Amino acid sequence: MTDSHGPFIQRCIEPNCRTTFELDERIYMCPRCSGLLDVEPVGPVNIDASSVRTKWRTRLSSADARDRSGVWRFRELLPLNADVEIVTLIEGNTPLYEAPRSAAYCGVDALQLKHQGLNPTGSFKDTGMTVAITQAKSLRSTLAVCASTGNTAASLAAYAARANMPCAILVPAGQVSLAKLAQALDYGASVLEVEGNFDACMQLMLELADEETIYLVNSINPFRIEGQKTVATELAEQLAWKVPDHVFVPGGNLGNSSALGKGFRELLSCGLIDRLPRITVVQAEGAAPFARFFAEQSLAGSQSVGFVNEEEPATLASAIKIGAPVSWKKAWRSVLESQGQVISVTEQEIADAKAVIGRDGVGCEPASATTVAGIKKLVTNGFVKHDQHVVAILTGHVLKDTDYVINYHNQTLRSTTDIRSNFRNKPLHVSSSRQSLKETLARVRDESGYL
Ligand code: F0G
Repeated sequence: MTDSHGPFIQRCIEPNCRTTFELDERIYMCPRCSGLLDVEPVGPVNIDASSVRTKWRTRLSSADARDRSGVWRFRELLPLNADVEIVTLIEGNTPLYEAPRSAAYCGVDALQLKHQGLNPTGSFKDTGMTVAITQAKSLRSTLAVCASTGNTAASLAAYAARANMPCAILVPAGQVSLAKLAQALDYGASVLEVEGNFDACMQLMLELADEETIYLVNSINPFRIEGQKTVATELAEQLAWKVPDHVFVPGGNLGNSSALGKGFRELLSCGLIDRLPRITVVQAEGAAPFARFFAEQSLAGSQSVGFVNEEEPATLASAIKIGAPVSWKKAWRSVLESQGQVISVTEQEIADAKAVIGRDGVGCEPASATTVAGIKKLVTNGFVKHDQHVVAILTGHVLKDTDYVINYHNQTLRSTTDIRSNFRNKPLHVSSSRQSLKETLARVRDESGYL
C-alpha cells in the first residue's frame, strides 16, 4: 500500500455547522457561524504504519529541504499542494532531553523535556509558520500580518523574509521582551506597537480578517496548527512510538495545545500510536481564563458553563499574558478527549521551575517553565504518579527573556508581590589577584552542589 491521502479541505469545528470550504479559501473562521476551522483530509488517510515510519526515518539522511525540515518530513499528514515550493528554515528536529534535576524537583522518577525553543527563531512557532507562509505563498498573498506577544512576531518576520513577502506585526507597546523585538526588526518586519495589551492587538487583527489584501497568520489560522501538530509525530517517533502517560504544555492563546491534541488524535486514527497521552495545559495564575473554565466545568458536571475572558491578564511570563484566547474551543477538545487537565501556577512557581530547568543545562523562557511547575503541582495532588512517563513541552529559548533571568538571580524579580529566588545563582565579585581567585574557585567547587 502506498502512503497517501486525497485532497484536504477546511471544516468548521462547530458540531451544528461542520460546513466545509476549499483549501484555497482565504478564511480564518467559518463565514456562517464564526466557528474555528480545522484542515483535514477529504477521505480516509491510507497510511501503513510500518512503511511510513521507515519512509520518515530514511528521509533523515536526505539532502532535500522537505526531508531536512522536521515538519515537512512528515508531509503524509500535511496539506501540501504538489506544485508549491515550501518556505522552510529547517524547523523542527528538536531534542528530547532527560531532565533528572527537574524530575527530582517535581517528585517523579524521570522527566523528559521536548525543547521546541531550539527551533530556528527560538520558539515552537516556527513549526507552524513554515506551513502558514507556504500557504500564504500559494495564495499569492502580498502582506502577512499577526498580533503577537513576541515569538509569533519573530517567527513570522523570519519566514516572510525567506518568502520575500512583506509582513507587519502588531505588538503590545512596552510588553514584549527586547530579544523578540530585536529579532523581528532584524528580519525586516514592520513592527507596529499598539497602545494596549495582546488581546487588544488580536481584536484589531480579527477586525481586519475580511481584508482581501492581507493574510493573517495567528494560530487562529488552521495552517499554523497543521505545522505545529507535527511535534506529536516527532515526539512519538523519538519514543519509539510509545506515547507518554502525560504531556504538559503552556497555554496562552491556546493554539499549541490545540495542535498537540490534533497531532496525537491523527496518529491514533492512522494506527501509528495505540493510545492518547493525557494533555495538561498550564497557565500563569494571573492570565488563566482556561484554567478557571476547566475548574468551573468540573464543578458544574453536565451543566454547561460559559467561557469568561480575563479582562486584565497579568504575568511576568509575557509570552502567555493573554486573557481572551481565541482557540480555547480546540484546546478544550484536546483536554477532554485525552482526559487531561487545565491548571494554573503562581509567579513564584514559574520562576523556581524555570531556574530548576536551567540547572538541568536546558533552560527555557518563563512561559515554558509553567509545565514543570504544573507537573510538580499535579504530582502533589496525585493526578501524576511518580512512576509515570511525563514529557514537558518547552516552548521558548532561555535567551528570549534575559532580563527575567538576571532579575531572578539578583533577587530583583517583582510581580505584584516580590518573588523569592529559591534557586539563586548570584554573580560573585572577585578581586584581581591570583590568591583571591584560587580561594573563590575552591569555594565554588565545595559549595556547588554538583559533587
Ligand atoms: N510559550 C511561548 C514561549 C509562547 O510564545 C506562547 C505564545 C505560548 C507558550 C503559548 O502558546 O498561545 O499557542 O497557547 N505566544 C504567542 C505569540 C501568543 O504571539 O508569540 P499558545
